[in-house]
Amino acid sequence: MIQVAVNGYGTIGKRVADAVAAQPDMEVLGVAKTRPNYEARGAVDRGYDLYAAIEDRADRFAEEGIEIAGLVDELVAGADVVVDACPSGVGEANLELYAEHGVPALLQGGEDADAVDVSFNARANYEAAEGADAVRVVSCNTTGLARLVAPLEEAYGIEKVRATLVRRGGDPAQSGRGPINDILPNPVELPSHHGPDVNTIFPDLAIDTLGLKVPATLMHMHSVNVTLEAEPAADEVRELLAGEDRLFLIDGSYDIDGSGALKEFALDAGRPRGDLWENGIWADSVSMEGHDLYLFQAIHQESDVVPENVDAIRAVLGAAGREESMRTTDEALGVGAL
Ligand SMILES: NC(=O)c1ccc[n+]([C@@H]2O[C@H](COP(=O)([O-])OP(=O)(O)OC[C@H]3O[C@@H](n4cnc5c(N)ncnc54)[C@H](OP(=O)(O)O)[C@@H]3O)[C@@H](O)[C@H]2O)c1
Repeated sequence: MIQVAVNGYGTIGKRVADAVAAQPDMEVLGVAKTRPNYEARGAVDRGYDLYAAIEDRADRFAEEGIEIAGLVDELVAGADVVVDACPSGVGEANLELYAEHGVPALLQGGEDADAVDVSFNARANYEAAEGADAVRVVSCNTTGLARLVAPLEEAYGIEKVRATLVRRGGDPAQSGRGPINDILPNPVELPSHHGPDVNTIFPDLAIDTLGLKVPATLMHMHSVNVTLEAEPAADEVRELLAGEDRLFLIDGSYDIDGSGALKEFALDAGRPRGDLWENGIWADSVSMEGHDLYLFQAIHQESDVVPENVDAIRAVLGAAGREESMRTTDEALGVGAL
């Protein structure tokens, strides 16, 4: 069994830990946090060994009656791989610790692409991560775009991608973020950083992205236009996208009119935390005008990178090929089973 350490047990870290625990070939060796808050209690309740991420603050866990298994250094020393899901910037600072122990590390999308050997999306460039010391699982938005681009590029060739990303202001628990009552062009300058980030996966892709931020917490929404080299019918494109497990085509008959209903649908489907690991593509929005494909897709920012992290673990360790890894991950979690 692959022994996985999760350093940083917040929005992404706790989901990755649960996804790892569900896999037939890996185990959660432990998780690390700096503070004894409700998430620390949740980790212990789930049976994960909890480690203190900052030595000077380790006593605080005992003061709150939370048992720890040791310090993060010990956790890393025993691991085959570390998933670092610390706040942006902390992951890069942690690379020294991982290198000291010779343990490969997966960072998240908030880190700089230059900090790692390779940026990763399972569908698009799985093989590039094999044997790397540091891999960055790209952000939620970049993951959503990469999953869409990969099959379109293979099937039809792509001349140009233009995507407008309507981004949630913060995650549901981030009470300090906004806007509360505004619509922000963000960033104002074009292109937004998302296009160049997609280029860390597809270096030759012509892509322009625009970003906005809105008072929403549930999901991001992408309005996408892809100029294809071929001119397929919309039905053919729909069929192609429906064949991808990590793309969920929302049938019109479901009457899902937005991210609120989509989140409710995921909760009703019994998804943990109401997570939608797949891109949610409105099937009726998939339209062709000449060479131009148009569609809307919802991206659940808290969870779409989770299966990608699981695949990145197998990829860096050379534990399985792309198709086998993605199939194993998806079957263990129920991705593509909506
Ligand atoms: N949320 C999203 O929408 C999203 C989507 C895709 C990618 N990402 C990326 O994923 C990364 C993590 O984001 P997140 O949203 O999961 O953040 P988060 O919810 O704030 O979780 C980060 C966790 O790390 C812990 N932490 C802080 N300093 C630490 C340290 N030095 N060592 C160990 N743990 C530490 C924090 O808790 P304590 O201080 O209590 O320990 C916190 O719970 C970022 O790079 C982000 O850009 C986020």
